[in-house]
Amino acid sequence: MSASKPRIRILDQRPETDAILDEVCHGLRQRPRRLPSKYFYDAAGSALFERICAQPEYYLTRSELAIMREHVAAMAASLGPEVLLIEYGSGSGQKTRHLLHALGSPVAYVPVDIAPAALSASGTALALEFPDLEILPICADFTTRVTLPRTRRPARRRAVYFPGSTLGNFDAHGSVRLLRQIREAVGSAGAALIGIDLKKDRAALEAAYNDVAGVTAAFTLNMLARFNRELGADFDLAGFRHRAIYNSLAGRIETFIVSRSAQDVHIGGECFHFAAGEAMLVEYSCKYTAEDFARLAAMAGLRVEHCWTDAAQRFSVQYLVPMP
Ligand code: AVI
Repeated sequence: MSASKPRIRILDQRPETDAILDEVCHGLRQRPRRLPSKYFYDAAGSALFERICAQPEYYLTRSELAIMREHVAAMAASLGPEVLLIEYGSGSGQKTRHLLHALGSPVAYVPVDIAPAALSASGTALALEFPDLEILPICADFTTRVTLPRTRRPARRRAVYFPGSTLGNFDAHGSVRLLRQIREAVGSAGAALIGIDLKKDRAALEAAYNDVAGVTAAFTLNMLARFNRELGADFDLAGFRHRAIYNSLAGRIETFIVSRSAQDVHIGGECFHFAAGEAMLVEYSCKYTAEDFARLAAMAGLRVEHCWTDAAQRFSVQYLVPMP
């Protein structure tokens, strides 16, 4: 007898296509041009991101998984039993499995992700692995106000899990705003567990965002392919290239899509002219010291109670609670 696949119902709180088009055109009208990194994650982009995580140069995922394996019991003890676990940018849910196994009788798991394909695949896999756990996926941009569903059992505490250094994809203003939103979502008795990449030498950082196999370059340029597919744009993919460099003053990798030549692109009834060599900013990947991050968290009314790192001090998982 074959086990039937669990049915996962996804709550759709996604932005409308028109809203995406408006945001993209707004970004293209700016000087310098910039496009939000959340648009990397359609089905093809999510699959490419999973491949990035397996590249030898991309130490982030391996380091964070090592921290989870070693310290997950301590993390679960900090969170306590009967937690409602909300995950932002859940992706494949690879790290979440470790946490869910260690947590004492979690009330429900609410993964929030902009990519429906990744949400459905990870939700189904986790439902098979945790048949008694209530899983309530939400397809949404987690930077907007997400409406949390009702759970069957009441939770003792709400906690946000935000792994993968995704917070690093926001600038200082955006990070503080998001941390404040997390504080609000969990309430005064809640907690957050956040994966943060640490500052290190330029060579290691730039290698991680310029893998030799070219997977990161393909991931970056997929954003343009997505706009062609979904918004009817006419980006010539061969006419653009990926560039990622470390800005040591700002403490972040800055990723650009660079126009190889002078060219016109049409989207949403508008024509955008690109000069040869013109660079569009598509992503920040901010890197922190433990002190930098504690300062940032404090600006949002959160206190770092614990910071776990891997042996090589490449990555950290931070346990935060609201300040009184
Ligand atoms: C999801 N996020 C934390 C990744 C990062 O490292 O900034 C996205 C990524 N971009 C290029 N490589 C990986």
